Amino acid sequence: MVYTDETDETHEGVVLSNAVVTSRVIMGLERFKPDSTIFADEAVLRDGYRPDQLIERDNELKQYQSALKPVINGAPPKNLFLYGQTGVGKTLSSRMIIERLDEDQQNLDDVDVHFAELNCKSLNSSYQVAANLINEFREPEEQIKPTGYPSGMIYTMLFEELEKLDATHCLVVLDEIDAIGNDDDILYKLPRANDNGNVRDTSVGVIGISNDFTFRDNLSARVKDSLCDEEIHFPPYDANELGNILKQRASEAFHDTTASQLDNGAFELSSDILEDDVIPLCAAFAAQDSGSARQALKLLYKAGDMARDEESDCITEEHVRRADEAVERDKVREELGRLPTQSKLTLYGLLLLEQESALPAKRNRIYERYVLAAKRIDADVRTDRTIHNRLSQLTLKGFLDVREQNKGPKGGSYYEYEFSIRADIVRDVLQGDSRLQELFDGIDGDMTLDKF
Ligand SMILES: Nc1ncnc2c1ncn2[C@@H]1O[C@H](COP(=O)(O)OP(=O)(O)O)[C@@H](O)[C@H]1O
Ligand SMILES: [Mg+2]
Repeated sequence: MVYTDETDETHEGVVLSNAVVTSRVIMGLERFKPDSTIFADEAVLRDGYRPDQLIERDNELKQYQSALKPVINGAPPKNLFLYGQTGVGKTLSSRMIIERLDEDQQNLDDVDVHFAELNCKSLNSSYQVAANLINEFREPEEQIKPTGYPSGMIYTMLFEELEKLDATHCLVVLDEIDAIGNDDDILYKLPRANDNGNVRDTSVGVIGISNDFTFRDNLSARVKDSLCDEEIHFPPYDANELGNILKQRASEAFHDTTASQLDNGAFELSSDILEDDVIPLCAAFAAQDSGSARQALKLLYKAGDMARDEESDCITEEHVRRADEAVERDKVREELGRLPTQSKLTLYGLLLLEQESALPAKRNRIYERYVLAAKRIDADVRTDRTIHNRLSQLTLKGFLDVREQNKGPKGGSYYEYEFSIRADIVRDVLQGDSRLQELFDGIDGDMTLDKF
């Protein structure tokens, strides 16, 4: 293919060069062009977008604000624990409340609140949270390394930072704190910093936020006592609530779409872009599955994306259904990707059997193939019993189906496994894992294990 130079603009993208007629459109790639008749501002559907209004959370906000009232009165803050599944507005509520508190404290002479916010998603111990908090307080040139100090010392340093603050109060927001698992020391030490005499000049309050219910149930008794002066539960949204959140957001995201709020708080939508069933359907899908506003917004965004790609004038119910399937597939992929190597090797065993059209299969056949695969990549070879447990876990997670086979009175019974999701998705995800690469080394990524 000959790429011509860019000087000749007169031929509308087609120029003559060396007697070869060449289109300047790069083969197979469409041109980028500004769209669209669908989106006015798609960024408002993205996860990072911060709306002005929190919808359908009046009770939780009231409880939250009232729990922080002592601060504004100059009293020691309460420690709060917020919990609820992902996507139910915990982070957004916290941000809004803190902004409001920050704004209102400006008018008060004898209260000066400092805020420290930390997302703990990738921090898996109290130590790491403490170290990262210290760095939140420090200037860039004074940052500490996140490892290597004795744990007593890291807390002393943290208390020093709090003591040093030129503020009457410090509120520490620890979002997604469930990441620290059982190692919850900091959730005792920090809320008790004043009571235990570690910090005197600054009143310290902790707001812990968790996506995980089991984390709350498993907090040690002393943490429950100190962190949970007040607990605020964020329940999943129902379809109606999700519908209102979506309508408000849709009015900003799509062309020719307006939403008006009625006296009872509900929203009414009028749109040339969204067919009537679109929002109710997005809301219903998300409500059935998780009650997460994040999921509902993602679905609406994806449906819009599909409509745009197809250059359709509007978003239809059909777009939403297909978007739902796509979102579901992405979720499965993500969950598969996070599995430990041993589980992936087990799945690889099933993939081989699938290739041989030998599924469903008994556990010993899966195990034979698992062993070869594990050896091939130099992974530990676990016992048959362990792999049995893996198979049960994979079944529980919804990746496999198991059924019991009865061979009559004498034959006894046994279990057979097969995929309950599409094998090509499993294959794709495993192939993307660098540790398993070698297992796909054949021509065209053919799965290769000698002997089979
Ligand atoms: N009540 C609400 N009103 C408007 N948008 C909301 C509401 N609740 C959640 N959202 C949106 O849903 C997404 C997830 O909310 P977020 O606060 O991050 O959830 P969580 O922290 O509970 O996982 C964000 O994009 C947020 O803007
Ligand atoms: Mg959050």
